[in-house]
Amino acid sequence: MSKNICLGITGASGALYSIRLIEVLLATGYDVHLSISESGAEVIRQEMGLKVNLKKFKPSDLMLDEIDSAGDSKIQLLQESAGIGTADSNVLSVDAGRLGELQYYHHQDFYAPMASGTFRTRGMVVCPCSGTTLSAIAQGGASNLIQRAAEVHLKERRRLIVVPRETPLSLPHIENMRRVTEAGAVVMPASPGWYHGATTIRDLVDFMVARICDQLDIDNGLMKRWGEK
Ligand SMILES: Cc1cc2nc3c(=O)[nH]c(=O)nc-3n(C[C@H](O)[C@H](O)[C@H](O)COP(=O)(O)O)c2cc1C
Repeated sequence: MSKNICLGITGASGALYSIRLIEVLLATGYDVHLSISESGAEVIRQEMGLKVNLKKFKPSDLMLDEIDSAGDSKIQLLQESAGIGTADSNVLSVDAGRLGELQYYHHQDFYAPMASGTFRTRGMVVCPCSGTTLSAIAQGGASNLIQRAAEVHLKERRRLIVVPRETPLSLPHIENMRRVTEAGAVVMPASPGWYHGATTIRDLVDFMVARICDQLDIDNGLMKRWGEK
């Protein structure tokens, strides 16, 4: 199966979920094809204090330039200094053999491989997924690369995982979640469980990332499974 995973970061709260997801996918040997919306970059700036240059993106914009095979990078230092993680919080136990590669495409680049069904992928994740992007996917409209790639995954009957973050939900939100679910997507609201002994924000982030990886059939050692000693 393809090692390509498409990831769209849009303008909903929870930027850290997506950055941690990239770390984990690369550390487990998957190639990440990334696009970020304007609002996605704004939320990253507001929540993480990171300035993402959408025209000349570099992995260092997301502090992903020093990732290692344990799935940890400079982002961990950022989290620790912000008091939202600990050095010994969950690290990957999966030996991937190789690190994946990060490829970035501007959100208006419709020549990007992920704009076409001919580009083979294991699936796509929109994380976090704004109400705007959810609506576009539900309606079958595509005014940027993220929406187009999501549309492609639905039409090709490939995995599409959307991670909306909004509360409370309006009826249009709920209707759009129903529509994308009926079209074949998996809706995974960013609502981490607390039952695995979470003590840090990192644990809550990793809960979501582990469940997203499960949907992609990607082995990960991020958290203990229910019933596991
Ligand atoms: C700091 C910030 C936080 C936001 N948080 C959310 C959110 O949690 N959920 C949501 O649906 N929209 C949120 N928005 C609004 C979206 O970013 C906005 O609707 C935008 O049009 C989304 O565009 P996009 O889907 O192309 O990224 C937020 C915006 C900003 C600036």
